Amino acid sequence: MRILVGITGGIAAYKSASVIRGFTEAGHDVKVLPTQNALRFIGATTLEALSHNAVDVDLYTDVESVKHIALAQEADLVVVAPATASFLSRYATGIADDLLLNVLLATKAKVVLAPAMHTEMWLHESTKENVAKLRSRGVLVIEPVSGRLTGEDTGIGRLPEPEEIVRKSLAFYNSCVDLVGKKFLVVTGGTREAIDAVRFIGNSSSGKQGLALADAASDRGANVTVIAINVGLDLSRFKNVYTAKSFADVQELLQKHAADADVILMPAAISDYRVENPSQDKIHRAQQPTLDLHLVANPDLLTNLVTAKSSGALTQLIVGFAAEVVADQTELATNAKNKLATKGVDVIVANNVSNGQSFDSDDNSVLIVSNKGKDETFTGSKYEVSNGILDYIKSLILIS
Ligand code: CTP
Repeated sequence: MRILVGITGGIAAYKSASVIRGFTEAGHDVKVLPTQNALRFIGATTLEALSHNAVDVDLYTDVESVKHIALAQEADLVVVAPATASFLSRYATGIADDLLLNVLLATKAKVVLAPAMHTEMWLHESTKENVAKLRSRGVLVIEPVSGRLTGEDTGIGRLPEPEEIVRKSLAFYNSCVDLVGKKFLVVTGGTREAIDAVRFIGNSSSGKQGLALADAASDRGANVTVIAINVGLDLSRFKNVYTAKSFADVQELLQKHAADADVILMPAAISDYRVENPSQDKIHRAQQPTLDLHLVANPDLLTNLVTAKSSGALTQLIVGFAAEVVADQTELATNAKNKLATKGVDVIVANNVSNGQSFDSDDNSVLIVSNKGKDETFTGSKYEVSNGILDYIKSLILIS
């Protein structure tokens, strides 16, 4: 696909180099259109080297080729990263005073904007109105994230990570924005049950599959809330994120947020037991040569959700996950179907974790079983697998 990357004059322009690289590495043909001010922050030589194409900024050279129209017509997708407040205003108003804005007014391609600016400017009424106007015209505006800004300050307004811009732009181009208006609650990671002030009983869950699901659902337009249980990964891109450590934390957060979701996804390793009386201090071996831990069973959170649903208190589609140690796909399917029946959930997504496979990996292979649809298998990166799971869930939401 032919992608035009526009760059406007803000400090985040240096990150556009990684956006260009992300698109070229995904096999796309990239042309870069910086504004004159963007070139104060990043050099044309860098942009030409990364895009493998000449970079042009001037509206008034090569006039005979009517280049703004040629560029507008040949582009399949235009991505402006970063987009400044001034650029958003001029684009929303229809001012075409540079090559990039001329191209944008002439193109029929899909347009993605990734604004970056100081918090005060992003929250200014005029910026909000411009963003709303552009969104109403079908432009995808990727929300800036919270974090360190150019000066000493921190707040919303930072350009999202280049990989996120690339991923969201490609998903948008592929018209996968099909979950708009749906609310997903994703519970991911693994609980830790305290033994004493410094020790715990934990598990190997990394939370990667859950975050990939949250990314994929949010890329497809869903409103996503994440409950992240001891997930040691960057969560700053999620607007609604709550952190949890123990079974009790997850139970409390579920009570607060389950009712608001349309779909609850639980790719979480939740402890089946907790230590009955964890010590508030550190246990010392010299004082306690042997240690007996008495464990009490935790209730099953999925079963509690299903019970609330059957009493009419909840209406969500409930999706449980099952990490199974099995010999083959047949045994995986048997265990998944047993879990579907015993837990009473709508869907079980099962994977084989024998030999530790899948836990910290970026790839996965899952089997989905449900009483409402046929069994399906998805294999690939955790993000690709997530899209398979979401396709399956989408079909259930539509028929239920
Ligand atoms: N789960 C839960 N509450 C628990 C334990 C697990 O809601 N106390 C959820 C998990 O988040 C997951 C699903 O149940 O979505 C399956 O978890 P798993 O550990 O595979 O199943 P268990 O019910 O614990 O069964 P077993 O360990 O015997 O396989």
